[in-house]
Amino acid sequence: MIEISALGKYFGGNKILHDINLKIEQNEIFAIVGHSGAGKSTLLRCINGLEKYDEGSLSVFGRDIGKLGEQELRFLRKEIGMIFQHFSLLEQKSVYQNVALPMQLWRYNKSDTDKKVQELLTLVGLIHKKDSYPKELSGGEKQRVAIARALSLEPKILLSDEATSALDPKTTLSILDLLKTINKTLGITVVLVTHEMSVVKNAASKAILLERGQIIGCGDIESLFLKPDERMRKFLGEEDILPNHGVNIRLYFPSTMSDKTIVTAMARELGVDFNIVWGKLEKLGEKVVGSLVINVDTKHADTVKNYLQNKNGIFWETI
Ligand SMILES: Nc1ncnc2c1ncn2[C@@H]1O[C@H](COP(=O)(O)OP(=O)(O)OP(=O)(O)O)[C@@H](O)[C@H]1O
Ligand SMILES: [Mg+2]
Repeated sequence: MIEISALGKYFGGNKILHDINLKIEQNEIFAIVGHSGAGKSTLLRCINGLEKYDEGSLSVFGRDIGKLGEQELRFLRKEIGMIFQHFSLLEQKSVYQNVALPMQLWRYNKSDTDKKVQELLTLVGLIHKKDSYPKELSGGEKQRVAIARALSLEPKILLSDEATSALDPKTTLSILDLLKTINKTLGITVVLVTHEMSVVKNAASKAILLERGQIIGCGDIESLFLKPDERMRKFLGEEDILPNHGVNIRLYFPSTMSDKTIVTAMARELGVDFNIVWGKLEKLGEKVVGSLVINVDTKHADTVKNYLQNKNGIFWETI
């Protein structure tokens, strides 16, 4: 649905995006993650043609964005809704008028507009606030109105630029739930830009990690978090403090195994003691994955490694 190949982008003499390659399939919730200044918003704005790119290609629905004229871009943007961190609602207009605005600009007739606004405000749970003004709404409610407005032209893709960054954790979860519902029930592909790992873990199915304009990690969420490489771990801010004696082994439990008692079974079956250095379980959407670091006496290390070698479905490495 969205295909980006060798994309490069400059601002003045500075290269902001380097050799970006990615594919976003229909119906995915795809996250673009990175620290401030990484180039996330710029990349997102390239997708709906708000920003031009200098190298490579970017196609949406099979159409190369770089080759479209203004008029064609205008039609393409109709299929791509967008929401922002600060909601971008018009303060002088009511909730109803904010949601209706894109349809009025596209000259939809009054009854179609009315029907759609009612439907969308019901979907986002704000039909009772249709005559309120933005200043009378909470941040979460404002974002719901912005979501309804972004859906008014029935887009196939929804771009979200830090849509939950100004909200508290509980409201963030409710907005993510709404985005997941929209993705499932309306079949809309969602591209989420965020610097918050909790957002990625909760909502996304795939992600790229962007650092200084380069993709430093990509994949489905479970493998990104289950077996993070060095750069991903650094990104997550995980610095292990490990014992400097014996052998340290890191175990990764995929979602199918996180509830199993591998470690205690291993201790019992081998009759070997070891220290648990640290461990954690993480919830990724509906799945739970875990990782654990154990420290084994050097003389037992081969026995433990052989045991793990013969266990299906568990990943491990010595560190
Ligand atoms: N219009 C512009 N002109 C010049 N430089 C720009 C422009 N827009 C962005 N940049 C630069 O491009 C880089 C990437 O910016 P971008 O806004 O895409 O980052 P971001 O990952 O979205 O950051 P944040 O999380 O803070 O929103 C930054 O160094 C920024 O200063
Ligand atoms: Mg940004």
